[in-house]
Amino acid sequence: MCGIIGYAGERDVVPLLIEGLRKLEYRGYDSAGIAVVTKNGLEIRRAEGKLGNLEARLLTEPVSGNFGIGHTRWATHGKPSENNAHPHRDCSGRIVVIHNGIIENFIALKKRLADAGHTFRTDTDTEVVAHLVESHLAALGFVDAVRATLREIEGHYALVIIDADEPGTIVAARNGPPLVVGKGVGENIIASDVTPLLQYTRDIIYFEDGEYAVVTKDEVELFDRDDKPVAREPKRITWDAVMAEKEGYRHYMLKEIHEQPRAVRDTFTGRMFEESGEVFFNDLAMTPAEWSKIRRIHIVACGTSWHSGLVGKFLLEQASRIPVEVDYGSEYRYRDPIVDDTTLVIGVTQSGETADTIAGMQEAKAKGAKLLTICNAIGSAATRLAHGVIYTNAGPEIGVASTKAFTTQLTAFYLLSLYVRQLRGESKESIREAMHELATIPHKLEDVLEKEKEIEELAYKYSKAQDFLFLGRGLHYPIALEGALKLKEISYIHAEGYPAGEMKHGPIALIDENMPIVGIATKTSFYDKVVSNFQEARARDGKLIVICDEGDEAMRAMADDVIEVPHTIEALQPILTVVPMQLLAYYIALRRGCDVDQPRNLAKSVTVE
Ligand code: AGP
Repeated sequence: MCGIIGYAGERDVVPLLIEGLRKLEYRGYDSAGIAVVTKNGLEIRRAEGKLGNLEARLLTEPVSGNFGIGHTRWATHGKPSENNAHPHRDCSGRIVVIHNGIIENFIALKKRLADAGHTFRTDTDTEVVAHLVESHLAALGFVDAVRATLREIEGHYALVIIDADEPGTIVAARNGPPLVVGKGVGENIIASDVTPLLQYTRDIIYFEDGEYAVVTKDEVELFDRDDKPVAREPKRITWDAVMAEKEGYRHYMLKEIHEQPRAVRDTFTGRMFEESGEVFFNDLAMTPAEWSKIRRIHIVACGTSWHSGLVGKFLLEQASRIPVEVDYGSEYRYRDPIVDDTTLVIGVTQSGETADTIAGMQEAKAKGAKLLTICNAIGSAATRLAHGVIYTNAGPEIGVASTKAFTTQLTAFYLLSLYVRQLRGESKESIREAMHELATIPHKLEDVLEKEKEIEELAYKYSKAQDFLFLGRGLHYPIALEGALKLKEISYIHAEGYPAGEMKHGPIALIDENMPIVGIATKTSFYDKVVSNFQEARARDGKLIVICDEGDEAMRAMADDVIEVPHTIEALQPILTVVPMQLLAYYIALRRGCDVDQPRNLAKSVTVE
């Protein structure tokens, strides 16, 4: 996720912008830049890589002033580079923009503006905003030109825009990614979140979606999407800086569980276009002709990422009718896999640095495979090793227990399966329907997150158990495995995930009144079979916690406890059913006094064998 900061006041703005961007580093980035209005006019300094590179640039090419904006970029459109780093300008260099999010209709806007004579310098979606403001400037003046621009762009964005000819005035707009203003005395500071503001002020004005503000050093004028003034009192923030990075959540893991609606949306936005019924990946690096040569697919991963690979297998086999194998990196790298140039190998890794997964990918590449990675870390080893990359755009995942990375990996696999269905000539109407269902998932995730309180109570009820069994069938078997891993890695309770149909082949011997069983029984093609598996467990006095569809009376009657989730198509249900398990594990671990964000013996990225 990009970092944004903007300042109007009396201070020396450059150190303030750099310090503010440093406080936003935890959001992850691949380049950075600032724009400052100096006595000689507007100056821009940008650099690829870490903030230190930008500071080095400022040492050799210093600028100073007391009005400016700064940005750390997490690339979505356009590779990480100095040229694609924000801020971006219009043709005249007068209008300067920084942005977090995705302008979904930038391709059409860019064509229209280029046809009207605008010259573009970058591959980014953001640059379109600067040229759009420029196109209205002569007729409307700066602030109204931004108003007109906000009415034309679609997508989700946090935008900060300045005009070199109107130093001291910042226009900032929010539609999706967060944006706040720190209200000071004789100064005002805009940022992506409160973290960089707390050393200057604790009086924070939060933007709501669709709102924008005209900010000077003395004024913050807030407006709604219909340009009506909004009166909003600043909130007094009492957090310390660390709590601010967690946005007030007690742990990073809980914050990241709650970020999943935004993370899933950021993973599909800009990659599926419902009007045209088309799926589009920036960096797949495979032509349709190369796809047609593929005769087998191997998915290589570890831990939670391996679980998403099991879901990916279902989706890709259904879409492509090509056999898909899923392997642990630690096994794959030594089993001399059967691989040649008709094999596609997909390395799934949040960190992009997991040694076993990287080694498996290297083994495959050496044998001539086409290599793709589904990864959350821009510029990581996996993304440099693979031919093609699908970024999960989840933003940095700090908690050791992986949550938003998992649901965005599932989203990436779903999109990839749509892409394959598109290559195989499936009708645009059917692809469009599948896209529409995915577009409803962020709201349905919000509905699931509203069950947090009841899940917390369930967690306390079962927190003393010494063993758990997680059961699921089909696409939910990997979710049962994932639920068991979440619980064991942060609460240290022994937990096993099993295919529900396998119980009678052994695990049923474990079941008694002390054994909680977490099962998934959403409405799928095998619902009835799952119900009978759960009845077998009940007959042995197992305590049954079932994740089911909203309004499932039969499950309410049969289970000891139910957690109801909104209905969706079978292929997307895992994105919803995993969240109650994440929350259950979190609150059980909390109850047991465990270190949720840094569980014992574990690392966030296992970079050794
Ligand atoms: C999951 O909660 C664990 N932290 C762990 O299993 C993790 O998924 C695994 O180490 C793989 O990490 P990666 O996705 O960064 O490759």
